[in-house]
Amino acid sequence: MSDRPIVVGINRTQDGSVAVATPAGVHSLQKERITRRKHHWGRLGDLPRYAERLSQLRHPVDLVVECFSSDDEIRNLTDYERELAELLTFTGGPPRVVRISHHLSYLFSAFPPSPYENAAVMVIDAQGSRVRDLTEPWPGDAAPDLLECASWYLCERGRVECLDKQLWNGDWATPAGLGCFYYLLTRMIFPDGEGNEGKVMGLAPYGRPDALGLPPLTVQGPHVLIPDEWTRLVASSGDRFGYGKTSFQDSADLAAAGRQAFEEAVLRVADWLHRETGASSLCFAGGTALNCSANGRLMREGAYDRVFIPPSPHDGGTAVGCALYGLTEVLGAGSEFRWTNDFLGPDPDAQAVYEAVAAVPPDLVVEKPADLAGRMVDLLDSGRVVGLHHGRSESGPRALGNRSILGDARRPGMQDFVNSRVKGREWFRPLAPLVLAEVAEKVFDVDRPAPFMQFAADVRPEFRSWLPSITHVDGTARLRTVEESETPFLYGLLRAFEARTGCPVLLNTPLNGQGQPLVETPAESLDCLLTTDMHALALPPYLVRKRVEPDLAG
Ligand SMILES: [Fe+2]
Repeated sequence: MSDRPIVVGINRTQDGSVAVATPAGVHSLQKERITRRKHHWGRLGDLPRYAERLSQLRHPVDLVVECFSSDDEIRNLTDYERELAELLTFTGGPPRVVRISHHLSYLFSAFPPSPYENAAVMVIDAQGSRVRDLTEPWPGDAAPDLLECASWYLCERGRVECLDKQLWNGDWATPAGLGCFYYLLTRMIFPDGEGNEGKVMGLAPYGRPDALGLPPLTVQGPHVLIPDEWTRLVASSGDRFGYGKTSFQDSADLAAAGRQAFEEAVLRVADWLHRETGASSLCFAGGTALNCSANGRLMREGAYDRVFIPPSPHDGGTAVGCALYGLTEVLGAGSEFRWTNDFLGPDPDAQAVYEAVAAVPPDLVVEKPADLAGRMVDLLDSGRVVGLHHGRSESGPRALGNRSILGDARRPGMQDFVNSRVKGREWFRPLAPLVLAEVAEKVFDVDRPAPFMQFAADVRPEFRSWLPSITHVDGTARLRTVEESETPFLYGLLRAFEARTGCPVLLNTPLNGQGQPLVETPAESLDCLLTTDMHALALPPYLVRKRVEPDLAG
């Protein structure tokens, strides 16, 4: 092992991703940011594309740790091993590759980077590894074809104990677990494509949770079973609840019923884990940990004093888990990495910014203002929508300020403008606020920082009509608190906006167009400006504007 070991983590499943960890830090990149296809699965041939963006992959590495899930790609291991041997250089000899199972990779994406010395850990997704592929000891004995769909752990630094797993036979006619439940709920309402779970979350507050008379989920210990009423509905509903194919209220009522059932079950499962462990801290990962309304209830109503959810709790974050597993468990090198911000993308490339700006078409105007934040405040305060691209990209699905579209949350028409004219998406989708961390508790009902936009909280009633474009129909918002130490430019922008307007809040949504993943490169951000009705794009030190502007948001 070299003095400064380099470990590559590869997630070869949904939301394919790669991470490079050294004792000093972590870089991570999702495949979708390269291919521009959301949730793109990992496959053979990914490695050269990752290496074009992450220079760390072009150096000798000490170890590769990879994870697969139920995807059949695990049958092609020989091909994957050949690709690693051909494309990576290994320090001091032949390729060294370790493979870990899916939920173990989630665990290492959640507990080691958390602030805690010990914690209970809950991993819940739809389907992880098969029993025959598990690489961790667990207190059970089951048929080798069964799939893990939830796992519970008690951890301290250097020690992991698996307490239980829920398993599923993989037959969608007999679904089990919270991940399957939310997947099926989403498919009933949005049958096309994948990754529509966020739409269900946005729709639910418009519905009546008891209108359809559906029962709660069955919770036995930590295991969640789906009652027959729900499975019959899945099997027989056809288009009855499909958004755009039925009444809006029907879709919303089902979303609300599903939300209620999901949240109540998550709370009970987390409480079981608390009773079993007595832990005061909880780490939570897996795709279900993206559910911001459930997370909000877990933090407010759950038995834990502290909750850590990594900013990339879904499959995309498991590459980080693989890399940290390799560094700590295989090489014994330790890791000081704590996931305090999510700017883990490739290092910024000033030359790429310069070249992209130099190549803009004649319908764009490039400025280099002495006070860029001040110029952005001019634009935002006058109803313009401004993109911001700077620094390393976010590794997870949330725009946290380095690849963001910003607007004035006080304008009643801003939500519609951004949803319809910039994002090209459904009118009901809520938009989220950025807020100066020091005043977050004044505007929102929160008792903790929200650096990763993982939970919804009430906008305090006296601020709701003042901030119509970030206040959802149920009075909540999925806020992002901004601290100077993590994002000084964004903090300075919010400060300048507050000084001008008295408002410490800006609307924030991912920098992307319709159906696209978050942008990665300066050229992609400029393309987003050109192909949507955004008014301007800040690429520090530059500001790019349209020569002929779209009209302003009302
Ligand atoms: Fe997963």
